[in-house]
Amino acid sequence: MSSKKKVLILVAWPYANGPRHIGHVAGFGVPSDIYARYMRMAGHEVLMVSGTDEHGTPIAMQAEKDGVNPQELVDKYNKQIVQDLCDLGLSYDLFTRTSTINHAQVVQKMFLQLYKNGYIYEDTMKQAEEAGTGKTLPDRYIEGKCPKCGYFPARGDQCDNCGSQLDPEDLIDPVSKNTGKTPIFVDSVHFFLDLPALKDALTKWLKSRKNWRPNVLKYSLNIIKETKARAITRDIDWGIEIPLPDWENQPQKRLYVWFDAVIGYLSACIEWARRQGDDKLWKNFWNDPSTLSEYFMGKDNIAFHSQIWPSELLGYQGLGAKGGQTGEWGKLNLPTEVVSSEFLTMEGKKFASSRGIVIYVKDILAKYPVDALRYYIAVAGPENNDTDFTWESFVQRNNSELVGSWGNLVNRTLNMVYKRFGEIPEIKLDDLLPEDLAILQKVEDAFLEVGELIVGHKQQAGIDRIMKLVNLVNAYIAATEPFKQEDFRARQILWVCLQAVYNINIMFAPYLPHSVQKVLTSLGVGNLKVPMPEIKQVTDLDNKSRKYPIICTDYKISENSLKTSNYSFVSWKFSYLTAGIIIDKPAPIFQKIDPEIVKQELEKFDDIIC
Ligand code: MF3
Ligand code: ZN
Repeated sequence: MSSKKKVLILVAWPYANGPRHIGHVAGFGVPSDIYARYMRMAGHEVLMVSGTDEHGTPIAMQAEKDGVNPQELVDKYNKQIVQDLCDLGLSYDLFTRTSTINHAQVVQKMFLQLYKNGYIYEDTMKQAEEAGTGKTLPDRYIEGKCPKCGYFPARGDQCDNCGSQLDPEDLIDPVSKNTGKTPIFVDSVHFFLDLPALKDALTKWLKSRKNWRPNVLKYSLNIIKETKARAITRDIDWGIEIPLPDWENQPQKRLYVWFDAVIGYLSACIEWARRQGDDKLWKNFWNDPSTLSEYFMGKDNIAFHSQIWPSELLGYQGLGAKGGQTGEWGKLNLPTEVVSSEFLTMEGKKFASSRGIVIYVKDILAKYPVDALRYYIAVAGPENNDTDFTWESFVQRNNSELVGSWGNLVNRTLNMVYKRFGEIPEIKLDDLLPEDLAILQKVEDAFLEVGELIVGHKQQAGIDRIMKLVNLVNAYIAATEPFKQEDFRARQILWVCLQAVYNINIMFAPYLPHSVQKVLTSLGVGNLKVPMPEIKQVTDLDNKSRKYPIICTDYKISENSLKTSNYSFVSWKFSYLTAGIIIDKPAPIFQKIDPEIVKQELEKFDDIIC
């Protein structure tokens, strides 16, 4: 891509019902950040948003379990998740939350326009209640036999065996997971999103999608075949109020968490614009059809991003069978791409926080370098297949690849230059030998190839390509033996190594931002910066008494203010380091992890599963 584009990067919103584990961040977090960092480096205008998902039964249930109110629960975990994601270096332009007033207002406006256009209607459905207490039972707290495939236990919202979307009353012999008793089904009035009326428009749009991962497209086209209207309200007291007279003050009816969460993509961009001091700024991204809108998530979220959210957007602009008008926000872009990852398991088991089969982001970052984790996710994460995290492969990948190949190349090069010349030597390009030029050419060519791979969401192939270059330069050193050469030739070889290391390091910047910054400093060009996210305490824009933390990356603003101080940001292009830059005694940047930790970590894990 040569021309400058606007790129919206919309990242799945983690539930604020507990700390996040590495399976979560391998699915939505690191891949979206790699893409965002690359797109910024390539000169595109990026807006990346997300936040914590704070409504619905996942939150209400956890709060009940912990004996706190839902607000206390989400405040606690929002804070922790913000810290974890920032520590991972995820460069959101705004990471907010769904409990802001701005979000509630945007959700309610979306609801009202859909209602006005006829895509939301009222109807009666069967609602499950706990026998005896009369308490509402959420779908996923009911289990029974799947009516489609006979699998037990299927959940009240879906069968994990055949993937069918279910309603609790479809289950054969349903029981409450809490009590084991058969629930009682009573009539309850709710609002429904008329997916059948949007089906044709949705199908047409889906069929026009290009370059999606084949699984995602196939799955999406498949589920719309069985489209039926879906309830978008629930009998629950935690959530956004239904913005209609007679409903607003009903303490027991709220909008369904998924209806509200996906609208977060829009509300977060509106919040971002308001925080920039230009309320309309978000429109540049959402109303301009040339914007790329890229959504990142784990595969259990696909239906909500390829069916529910696009249907809401189509209905909002009156594009379904019932017609209707476009609301005040104008025409809004549908997803360009739904980039879904597969699942990460751990030592062969499904992550299950409830059973302790889990590695929390906070815990792994407390003990191991952040880029060791980012490297592992980039090379061995679940990009196209379910993959398994093992401590052994984590240590091995870090020690032999990140430290052994790349760290070693950086170290050897810097050490040789430091000892022999103390600065970036001066050479004449014309004097270089063909093998020298070949190395530089290969490094230069890789910028285009790796860039295309990242744009095509083939990040694993991208980093593999970079590692190949690393090996190539290591082989070049072995073949040319600069340490045995007299100054004239040694100067040339080390100059080539330095330029290769410098440029390869630039290509690593989307993947390994923290260590890339350290290498830049060691190369004497520390005023070239890799942007890093920050946490800021802000005031709710519509409620002066409420404060909350956001993650933001003032990429543009700092670009201006940094100019005056002679700083600049890394960009995606081949360039040469200038001769004469002083190379100080290099400090080690990459660290091996003691293989002993494998046993220790596994012992902890064994204690839990035995
Ligand atoms: N909270 C959901 C989950 O963790 C993801 C919501 S993505 C959203 O599965 F964008 F729709 F919010
Ligand atoms: Zn089934």
